[in-house]
Amino acid sequence: MKGISTPLVFSLLLPLTLAAQNSTSTNTTATEGILSSGSVDLGDWADAYTKAAALVAQLTNEEKITLITGGSVSSVNWTALEFKDGTEGVQGYNFVTGFSQSSALAMTWDKTLMYDQMKAVALEFYGKGFQVVNGPTSQPLGRTPWGGRLVEAFTPDPYLNGIAFGLGAKSFNDAGVVGGGKHFLLNEQETNRQASGSSSVAPYSSVADDKTLHETYLWSFYDGVKNGLGAVMCAMTKVNGTLSCENEGLLQSLLKTELGFPGLVYADVGGQSTAFGSANGGLDFGSSSIWSNSTLQSGLTNGSFTEARLDDMAIRNIIGYYKVALDNGTQPAYVGSDEFVDVRANHSKIVRTNGGASLVLLKNINNALPLSKPRTMAIFGSHAGPIMAGPNYVFSVQGSGPIYEGHLAGGSGSGQTSFPYLITPQQSLTNQASLDGTMIRWILNNTYTSTTSGGSGGGGGSDFGGMTGNSSSNGTSMSDPPTLSKRAGAAIAGPTGGTSLSQTIPDYATAAEICMVFINALSGEGADRTELRNTEQDALVTSVASNCNNTMVIVNTVGARILDAWIENENVTAVIYGGLLGQESGNSLLDVLYGTVNPSGRLTHTIAKNESDYNVGLCTTAVCEFTEGNYIDYRYFDKYNVTPRYEFGYGLSYTTFEYSDMTANITNATALASTYPTGALSVGGKADLWDEVISISVSVANNGTVDGNEVSQLYIQYPDAANQPIRQLRGFERTLIASGSSSTVTFSVRRRDISSWDVEGQDWAVVSGDYVFSVGASSRDLRVSQTVTVGA
Ligand SMILES: *[C@@H]1O[C@H](CO)[C@@H](O)[C@H](O)[C@H]1NC(C)=O
Ligand SMILES: *[C@@H]1O[C@H](CO)[C@@H](O)[C@H](O)[C@H]1NC(C)=O
Ligand SMILES: *[C@@H]1O[C@H](CO)[C@@H](O)[C@H](O)[C@H]1NC(C)=O
Ligand SMILES: *[C@@H]1O[C@H](CO)[C@@H](O)[C@H](O)[C@H]1NC(C)=O
Ligand SMILES: *[C@@H]1O[C@H](CO)[C@@H](O)[C@H](O)[C@H]1NC(C)=O
Ligand SMILES: *[C@@H]1O[C@H](CO)[C@@H](O)[C@H](O)[C@H]1NC(C)=O
Ligand SMILES: *[C@@H]1O[C@H](CO)[C@@H](O)[C@H](O)[C@H]1NC(C)=O
Ligand SMILES: *[C@@H]1O[C@H](CO)[C@@H](O)[C@H](O)[C@H]1NC(C)=O
Ligand SMILES: *[C@@H]1O[C@H](CO)[C@@H](O)[C@H](O)[C@H]1NC(C)=O
Ligand SMILES: *[C@@H]1O[C@H](CO)[C@@H](O)[C@H](O)[C@H]1NC(C)=O
Ligand SMILES: *[C@@H]1O[C@H](CO)[C@@H](O)[C@H](O)[C@H]1NC(C)=O
Ligand SMILES: *[C@@H]1O[C@H](CO)[C@@H](O)[C@H](O)[C@H]1NC(C)=O
Repeated sequence: MKGISTPLVFSLLLPLTLAAQNSTSTNTTATEGILSSGSVDLGDWADAYTKAAALVAQLTNEEKITLITGGSVSSVNWTALEFKDGTEGVQGYNFVTGFSQSSALAMTWDKTLMYDQMKAVALEFYGKGFQVVNGPTSQPLGRTPWGGRLVEAFTPDPYLNGIAFGLGAKSFNDAGVVGGGKHFLLNEQETNRQASGSSSVAPYSSVADDKTLHETYLWSFYDGVKNGLGAVMCAMTKVNGTLSCENEGLLQSLLKTELGFPGLVYADVGGQSTAFGSANGGLDFGSSSIWSNSTLQSGLTNGSFTEARLDDMAIRNIIGYYKVALDNGTQPAYVGSDEFVDVRANHSKIVRTNGGASLVLLKNINNALPLSKPRTMAIFGSHAGPIMAGPNYVFSVQGSGPIYEGHLAGGSGSGQTSFPYLITPQQSLTNQASLDGTMIRWILNNTYTSTTSGGSGGGGGSDFGGMTGNSSSNGTSMSDPPTLSKRAGAAIAGPTGGTSLSQTIPDYATAAEICMVFINALSGEGADRTELRNTEQDALVTSVASNCNNTMVIVNTVGARILDAWIENENVTAVIYGGLLGQESGNSLLDVLYGTVNPSGRLTHTIAKNESDYNVGLCTTAVCEFTEGNYIDYRYFDKYNVTPRYEFGYGLSYTTFEYSDMTANITNATALASTYPTGALSVGGKADLWDEVISISVSVANNGTVDGNEVSQLYIQYPDAANQPIRQLRGFERTLIASGSSSTVTFSVRRRDISSWDVEGQDWAVVSGDYVFSVGASSRDLRVSQTVTVGA
């Protein structure tokens, strides 16, 4: 060791504890959230803690300061960790896979698919030499559907979000990288998120009451921490007036004490403002200019800061590295973005499979889908084909959208995908047409108006002599009324006009047996959405549908997309709705359109009929009060009797399922005899929050003619005394069931799943009373239920 000012040579846990107690500081309140205090049972983190503490014990304070500001420490051969965005692949890198966005992955409602994909993502980071991934992204959760960044996150339902986030944390660890779960906390919109010299309202300060904070926003972080999250990124914004990254209540009390989080807290850009506010507030990794050696050293001397806290920060910076075995000598060296280190393995298969599994079939009149060797097809919209200079169009971090003039399969900002290639629907449908003998036409432009008449190609002149016998078809403008029918009196779908048919949207629509319209919605980091629908794209759908009685609409969106401009149009026979699917997007879609994949994706958010049906808009003031409490998304629609267009959990299949024979049994009556959990404070909160207390089973039969996956969903209605939303998701299972057979689906209900936050007791309580458990195919399609009485 060298450069020792006040050497502290200690051997692990006990001396660290004493150091905490005998700090030179007069500040005695600062032991909360300090790992060495022993207040949290570290469980399977204990070995990593021992290794981290042993390394830190060899450091001078100056070296510890180097460590917590991202430096390498040569005396102990510690190399600074490499951090990188994001959960859809290694951002900005060549020779990596372009995965789907987290919002799309969640739409699979499949735990195995979620785990497999996030592990594949993490393996690519591992292979490029990164140690920390800035993800998975639990939040923004989805308080407002206008949130620009929801594409990177899972869903506004805390339970589904928590399961996905936990699987992300676990899969990252299993792949050997540290997950940096984000954003902590109440960072729900992009507008005014970042301090700006001229703005008195930025960054905004979120205020949520204690019950809402726990039940809606903190919920998923319990899952992340329980499943081994090694790092957490605090947000740019404020909570209750204090920057999240300097907020002792959030970081030291909630995250590190209540949830028992043992890892590293690091800041989103600009999240750190003051040296001791952040250090005492709970930030563990920060800027070397704000945390300069001289500043922190003098803080230790004058009592603004404690050595116990400094040691804790240093340990937290490296504990995750040991937890995921990055010290085992196997990780390949870090490489730059262009080096030829190909980490893709067979991950394109995962992308294709998961894309297909995530697509939601919203409408399918008279089995319009799946397709079978159609004779003619026309596809419309810029979203069907490649953008002119693709696929790695560089999005602005300060806002992109509201639509994209090319096939949209990746997000923007921190959610930007690195595409090695991108299969567009135009490409995959063309390939299929070549196999099936289908005639396929396209207009890859939402507003195209031909400037030339058809017939100049030497075919039939201006008289196509086709089935309609229409003799006058020149460039019909999109400014014509959308209801315009070029062939009034001859509404016959099918081939007309030969190949010299005029190149207009209405004429192509009239001439095709199948018309497919592709629309998208784009937003991302840095700006919120300006609309949840789009006039240009909705006019395109209406224009095609007014000329084609078999119009199918394919939507790929960053979040909720209103469909009401055309959803009830009788000529819109099928609608497929999905997220942004990554490099195999066109193939995933093809699989569902042609029925090699039976759709099983389910909505992870509510689609309203009107934008005004959503209760939470963007906040434009300095203080953002979460006055809606827990009532966001379906919890709001249910409580206030607002009829959605399509409810949370909705999605059709090419087959039908029937539910029967539900049972619900208490499996641990001893546990339920106690209102509050009694277990030790552990990583992930009190240990018994995670114990099964009730087991549910139901029989699900596939009554149709094709095999299919059903996503069985468990919703719970609490007793009134718990003051909870009408029903809440507390279980889901995606099960492949062969045509004509049935499966028993079981749900394990944990103590936390029937708990509510008791503000007075400051703990999770199981209120006595009747709990109604219902299982069904969506939040409004509950098929069977059972009541379980808990307590006296
Ligand atoms: C801590 O302080 C107590 C008295 O306050 C003392 O007995 C003990 O030896 C000190 N421990 C260390 C490690 O300095
Ligand atoms: C330092 O660590 C590197 C890997 O990070 C390892 O290859 C090297 O052997 C270590 N050197 C010493 C002296 O331990
Ligand atoms: C080191 O850890 C990685 C990631 O978990 C694992 O794949 C590898 O097999 C481990 N190597 C050894 C030698 O244990
Ligand atoms: C913020 O303030 C509200 C009341 O104004 C309180 O209920 C909540 O617990 C506070 N949140 C934090 C993180 O301190
Ligand atoms: C760091 O601060 C300590 C105490 O103030 C001082 O002794 C040491 O020289 C400083 N080191 C550097 C590199 O500034
Ligand atoms: C003592 O620690 C608390 C909690 O970290 C902090 O809020 C307070 O500002 C500290 N006091 C001093 C004098 O540093
Ligand atoms: C779409 O077509 C219109 C009218 O023909 C044209 O003005 C516009 O530039 C085209 N858009 C794109 C993205 O090519
Ligand atoms: C299309 O044909 C009609 C009738 O022949 C004519 O009035 C109109 O100007 C033509 N439009 C274009 C764009 O050529
Ligand atoms: C569309 O209209 C044609 C001609 O009337 C008819 O043969 C066909 O069945 C219709 N298709 C649908 C999906 O209604
Ligand atoms: C449906 O399509 C037919 C042409 O096949 C057209 O005549 C009819 O007006 C369309 N209906 C609507 C509601 O657009
Ligand atoms: C039942 O719950 C009690 C209290 O939480 C716990 O100690 C016990 O391990 C649980 N039993 C089972 C079988 O999970
Ligand atoms: C519930 O108990 C009944 C009767 O003992 C049993 O048949 C059923 O399988 C149990 N269900 C579950 C999900 O444990």
